[in-house]
Amino acid sequence: MPSRPRVVAFSGSAKRPSRTRILVEALGAELGRLRPIDLAVYDLLDAGPGLGATQRHDLSAPAERLIAAIEGADALIVGTPVYQGGYAGLFKHVFDFVDPARMAGKPVVLTATGGGLRHALVVEHSLRPLFGFFAAHVAPTSVYAGSDDLVDGRILDRTVAARLEAAAAELASLIDLARPPGSGPTN
Ligand SMILES: Cc1cc2nc3c(=O)[nH]c(=O)nc-3n(C[C@H](O)[C@H](O)[C@H](O)COP(=O)(O)O)c2cc1C
Repeated sequence: MPSRPRVVAFSGSAKRPSRTRILVEALGAELGRLRPIDLAVYDLLDAGPGLGATQRHDLSAPAERLIAAIEGADALIVGTPVYQGGYAGLFKHVFDFVDPARMAGKPVVLTATGGGLRHALVVEHSLRPLFGFFAAHVAPTSVYAGSDDLVDGRILDRTVAARLEAAAAELASLIDLARPPGSGPTN
């Protein structure tokens, strides 16, 4: 029996509750409805203050576990809060530790949350180039939720919900392409 693909959902927020974490969890849940997966969800609090290092060997054990989980995942659902019009600095800091060789060809969905809709294209103009650098296989549909779209842990906007479903379906296809049925873990 083939093992389930390991999917890591990572939210670059240090808050709980976090709208970004809710969005990546919702995408993971939708993906889980489409195909069997092993889902692990992380945020910056899982990494702890030991993330504040400049070299990988100086990371604390929890921070190293987060980076290793991202590298070892068969697929990623990433999310960032919008800070000052771009991705959160600590979101980028996490990916600065990630070995690009472990990202090439990895299926990824991009998500972000913000206070309004003014910065909705942060997923396209900020996140997509970063994952293009990594040569990841990024789903064409990305998901952004403003404050009226995601309230009290629920996605209220139908367009956001439809994009989330589309992104999950695309991620499922990318996972199957990267990992044909019957194959084991990729790394
Ligand atoms: C320092 C800071 C800067 C922010 N800058 C923006 C911004 O430029 N554009 C925007 O739409 N929202 C901005 N926000 C709002 C957050 O992106 C929004 O509340 C987000 O959903 C928070 O995600 P979280 O609940 O996962 O932490 C900012 C919030 C903070 C704390």
